[in-house]
Amino acid sequence: MFSASRGFVPLLAAAALTGVLLGACQPQGAEAPPAATAGGPVRILSAKGLNPQAGEASPQGRLLIGRGKDYTPLNEDPKALFDKLEGSMAERRKTGWAIVEALLEPQKLTLDGKTYDVPLWHTWYEGMSANPEVDQKIKLFIAQLAACKADADCHKSRAEIAHEVMAQSGTDKNLVRSLVSANLTQVLKQSEGFDRGNPEDELGQGFTLFSPSFVEHVLAQAQGIETCSNKIPWNQAPPSAGQFSPCVEEFPRSAVMVKTNWDQIDGASPKVSAHATDAAAVTAVLKGGTWPKPTLEPVDPSGIYTVQTTDGKLFGLKSIHISTKDTREWIWITLWWSPKPDEDFGQDRPASLARFNGGVWSHYKMCVTTAFNETDPKPWGSYETAQPALAAAIKASYDGAVEQRNPAPYDKVTTWCSNPNLEHHTGNGRTNCIGCHQYSLTWNELKERPAYFSDTYAASMAAEYPQYGRARRRANFPAEFAWSFGMEFQEQIKTAREDQGFSW
Ligand code: HEC
Repeated sequence: MFSASRGFVPLLAAAALTGVLLGACQPQGAEAPPAATAGGPVRILSAKGLNPQAGEASPQGRLLIGRGKDYTPLNEDPKALFDKLEGSMAERRKTGWAIVEALLEPQKLTLDGKTYDVPLWHTWYEGMSANPEVDQKIKLFIAQLAACKADADCHKSRAEIAHEVMAQSGTDKNLVRSLVSANLTQVLKQSEGFDRGNPEDELGQGFTLFSPSFVEHVLAQAQGIETCSNKIPWNQAPPSAGQFSPCVEEFPRSAVMVKTNWDQIDGASPKVSAHATDAAAVTAVLKGGTWPKPTLEPVDPSGIYTVQTTDGKLFGLKSIHISTKDTREWIWITLWWSPKPDEDFGQDRPASLARFNGGVWSHYKMCVTTAFNETDPKPWGSYETAQPALAAAIKASYDGAVEQRNPAPYDKVTTWCSNPNLEHHTGNGRTNCIGCHQYSLTWNELKERPAYFSDTYAASMAAEYPQYGRARRRANFPAEFAWSFGMEFQEQIKTAREDQGFSW
């Protein structure tokens, strides 16, 4: 068990501006970080009351980590891959875990001659964050585009300028700027404005991240993103067979979007809220629409992906959403921390995940969806013998979806996947990821206003958002399935442009 009296206090009192600690339990009175070189959470300590600027100015305070490489897409034809995953839950879950593993690939942070492991996803560019790295790239891009436009000798394309901007400043990531309390306690957009009046049910807190190729594409397509209309009719044919969006070109296959959700886990006996996700819970979610109340569960910082902020607080990663553009419809994966990680959605977790960060990833469960429709006729089938609780939970979601088919053409069985910590609003538990994400930057025709994500699962909207939003309704996807277009990037691009006095 971790306790504040072990290891951390002496370091806090030490004169060093900033140190990094690895591993949850230090020997009593340890004066220096352990010599371990792999595994364990990244801990960032700084002496209390220190000016963060001074911290950054010192070489020790600059927790620089090389910006991780791009995600390498699965080496399969995207259409064949899509069909395979849509038709087989076993293939889908196997692929989901494999993608998680790829995103955990350790990147090395070196400080004072010691090396620490940071998962690949954590080195990428932060979007909605106190460390707004995507916004900085957008500003840089607009400035260089404006300069090019003003220079008669500049003939660079937007894609070329975007590529150059990605190679400029910010190729290293400074974790001192990211691991600050303000960032880890920021309420996620999906949780803004919601309060069920239940203090146990704290709102999702955290930040979004995007892979380098995602960010580069946002820059190159900035005009299309900013000027994308939310009034494109749902049944308007897409621009071409290879392009879903009337606003932007589709992302490259290496593009990845990530959303993280953290809870503070300080104190002598830290606890986080957690949900049952067994068959009974899934049946209740599908029927009632809402995740049952969570319980507060003890958590050991060595059993959850943990970071320590510059002001000395510990935060544990409760959930992470990962979406990769491996297929045109993206692959939608979510992990949640569980006190019983080897049951239901954790039963098929590959043992290889224990290799990373001292084994913390063995405490997470996973669900994945890759399509609107469930075309596996018996998605629980391959788990019946060896992983019966997983089979039962999947069957519960399937049975629920079978009952909730709308009249034709929305009469297909749809997929289900929901993170109990993030899709936790009333009614939101029976959705799937892709179903809701299709409605980013669209118009609610019944209410004659932009669609809110919360419209998508309201039963009264059934005709406009069939199957509680799970079914494919749209012929086009203006925002390419990214809610961040309207919630993050449009405003950032507009502001950067106006600041530069630049017009398209
Ligand atoms: C009912 C709607 C809804 C559902 C269901 C939903 N999301 Fe989201 N998602 C959102 C909203 C709103 C955001 C907020 C965008 C922001 O803050 O930038 C978001 C953000 C994200 C992001 C960050 C990138 C972006 O801008 O889109 C990822 C990745 C993501 N969701 C994945 C998932 C996964 C995986 C699931 C299924 C387990 C899921 N979502 C279910 C509405 C939804």
